[in-house]
Amino acid sequence: MKVLSIVGARPQLVKLGAVAAAFAGTGHRHVVVHTGQHYDPGLSDVFFREFGIPEPDYHLGIGSGGHGAQTGAMLAAIDPVVAAERPDWVLVYGDTNSTIAGALAAVKLHVKVAHLEAGLRSFNRRMPEEHNRVLTDHCADLLLAPTEEAMRHLAAEGLADRAVNVGDVMVDVCLRTRDAVLAEGLRPALPAGVDADAPFLVATLHRAENTDDPELLAALVGALADLPVPVALLAHPRLRAKADGFGIKLDQGALAVGDPLPYRDLVAAVLASSGVVTDSGGLQKEAYLLGRACTTLRTETEWVETLEGGWNVLAPRPDRLPAAEWHATATRPAPAVRLADPYGDGRAGEAVVRTLASRLG
Ligand code: UD1
Repeated sequence: MKVLSIVGARPQLVKLGAVAAAFAGTGHRHVVVHTGQHYDPGLSDVFFREFGIPEPDYHLGIGSGGHGAQTGAMLAAIDPVVAAERPDWVLVYGDTNSTIAGALAAVKLHVKVAHLEAGLRSFNRRMPEEHNRVLTDHCADLLLAPTEEAMRHLAAEGLADRAVNVGDVMVDVCLRTRDAVLAEGLRPALPAGVDADAPFLVATLHRAENTDDPELLAALVGALADLPVPVALLAHPRLRAKADGFGIKLDQGALAVGDPLPYRDLVAAVLASSGVVTDSGGLQKEAYLLGRACTTLRTETEWVETLEGGWNVLAPRPDRLPAAEWHATATRPAPAVRLADPYGDGRAGEAVVRTLASRLG
């Protein structure tokens, strides 16, 4: 079997880490295409090194742009690669513009498409990620879902026949990394001003719906800066660019600003922290897996399981909450009771490879 993985943005490289590890040592051929959507070394190269993923077989160097221009440029560049490789499967990941471009290119060449992390829904049609995941699910031949909730969404859209729950590949990577970090006693690389031995929060903020509205972005940054404990803000380039453009100062109040971290350092930072505040999908789940409470700066979440038992709390407009309530929410301790394994057992990568092989015919 020959499988062509198409990736481009940071969260896809984490998922690729699990899938590439599962392919290693099998007789299958795994070809990797990097669209170049994320090109900063800290958002891309570092993950290939960390997870021991072989260099991409193709690097398309597409880079940034408006949604249409970026997706279109990817589509044009992926097309000849799929035509030349003629894989048994094109495997696309998650919900970025690289996902929809890869899926469309393959469908039009009559190459079978598998979508990893299928069936997630926010039901918020303002999010580019929601367009990407809905469209990708409906054009893919095989839907590799991470949870039972995702399976239900696919069934409700008439896609049950193509769907398989393989578990969540991010669990494979997160738990493996956690064990390595704990075994090595890795100290977190935190922004200056944050003491790893005192309570602090890890924060990230990058979603277009939060960063692209100046009033909302100023309110969110202000709410983080107002917290009573230091906040290590790992600033995505989109956040820095938008804050700069709107004249919003990131380095204020409780905020200590640093760059995005390699995955091991991120895990070490969350383990050292007292909690997480984020609008990232992956980090909501990683906080849960690493035993920290998460506060999510969004109106909804795709990872609804994390809301159970208070592991995750939605706070779309913390600036509109009474200060005491916002402070208490963001700094609350992790719940005592764990959830019943909603994301699988940490062996999803192998399930992906097995399912691709068994569904070939
Ligand atoms: C993309 C995904 C999002 C995912 C996120 C993870 C889409 C629609 N969005 O958002 O779902 O959660 O990745 O990080 O695909 N930039 C850099 N260096 C880079 C990459 C981007 O400076 O390496 C800048 C760009 O110039 C642009 C901004 O970041 O200003 C946005 O990049 P883009 O790829 O469009 O989307 P993300 O916000 O990263």
